[in-house]
Amino acid sequence: MAKIPHRLYLTEDQMPKQWYNLRADMKEQPDPLLHPGTHQPLPEEALYPIFCEKLAHQELDGKTRYIDIPEPILDMYKLYRPSPLCRAYNLEKALGTPAKIYYKFEGNNTSGSHKLNSAIAQAYYAKEQGLKGLTTETGAGQWGTALSEACAYFGLDLKVFMVKVSYEQKPYRKAVMQTFGADVTPSPSNTTEAGRAILAHDPNTGGSLGCAISEAVEMATTQEGYRYVLGSVLNQVLLHQSIIGLESRQAMELLDEYPDIVIGCAGGGSNLGGLIAPFMRDKLTGKADPRIIAVEPASCPSFTRGKYAYDFCDTGHVTPLARMYTLGNGFMPASNHAGGLRYHGMSPILSKLYHDGYMEATSVKQTDVFDAAVQFAKVETILPAPESSHAIRCAIDEALKCKETGEAKTILFGLTGTGYFDMSAYEAYHNGTMRNHVPTDEELQTGFDTLPGQPE
Ligand SMILES: Cc1ncc(COP(=O)(O)O)c(C=O)c1O
Repeated sequence: MAKIPHRLYLTEDQMPKQWYNLRADMKEQPDPLLHPGTHQPLPEEALYPIFCEKLAHQELDGKTRYIDIPEPILDMYKLYRPSPLCRAYNLEKALGTPAKIYYKFEGNNTSGSHKLNSAIAQAYYAKEQGLKGLTTETGAGQWGTALSEACAYFGLDLKVFMVKVSYEQKPYRKAVMQTFGADVTPSPSNTTEAGRAILAHDPNTGGSLGCAISEAVEMATTQEGYRYVLGSVLNQVLLHQSIIGLESRQAMELLDEYPDIVIGCAGGGSNLGGLIAPFMRDKLTGKADPRIIAVEPASCPSFTRGKYAYDFCDTGHVTPLARMYTLGNGFMPASNHAGGLRYHGMSPILSKLYHDGYMEATSVKQTDVFDAAVQFAKVETILPAPESSHAIRCAIDEALKCKETGEAKTILFGLTGTGYFDMSAYEAYHNGTMRNHVPTDEELQTGFDTLPGQPE
């Protein structure tokens, strides 16, 4: 057989034409979204004031296994997909490992991350419903950037609430969003009731994703012709991101390869849920049994130290309740440089799979993450995003274990994005000012104290 290429690009024609809905193959469904007052499951119509109708349907549809990707979405996907499946020959050599390391690179588009895969879908369905615009939150800025691109493409207005610390640290992210026509407000702000309440409580807060979500949901539900969209956590977002895994599996099949280990970083779970989807299908249907590992920051350890409980998705308590691994909606993560991983909760689908023993999770400290990022950048010539570098850390650690045991395992990890807007993080790493914060049990308890009462 010919040597496996450094980068394998599927052709446009080979790109998947359907998303895969992992819930259809799960033995037990994730627990339903609940109304926070009545604790009753929310019917689809109850979500219409927040989400556009097709997306509300996808959110609650646990049965349809494959869903056609509408043609206009495929057309925009083709501007940057299929994304390459890369063989990390240089990293393998540098580590001296017998392991074969592959990574699926999602940073090859202007937004610089996988977030565009769902942004395009969500903007398309909003346009199809005849809406005027969308509102959203963004932490590190990748999701806001992706959504601004998608809204510009489909001709929708966009209001972005950007976590205040990121707004101040990353002015160029804001400028990119503005270039695509988005209106960007630092959160918490005085423009919403939720924002004013949070500011009254703590005028100097740097904000959090949970606060920004409250503001964006309030703005969407109080303005005619607007709906809210979220870049992670939700079932619909994992559905759209399944294209990452479907392409990866197809490309590996062409190479006659199959991963022993699949690794992804986990913020709200969208890239990981997308990457693992077809491999988890194989596991659930008994076809294969790869290890699946979620990697999270030690400073925001939802899987590894969180509780599996019903919680609000936001700080201002305007969202439904979701059952997930959570640190509590009031948990304020330390200012880790991987802004996209600073979220108190986790995808309900992944939470259920983790709870039922289908996947593992590990947490890593940020200086160890940047050691891996720099080592990777030097040999693979891609500057990774801090979030993605969590997966690199774990892949390197697994490859080094193979070096010890002499096993030639096949490792696949998700390289979700590039880090060009994260240079202050790289700078802190280089000048030795980067610190690791691992919350104490007492600090975590203050977050757990904000969990709402659990349904009977
Ligand atoms: C590059 C990158 N990777 C990963 C993530 C984490 O999000 P998720 O867990 O939804 O994939 C983010 C979130 O902003 C991101 O920007």
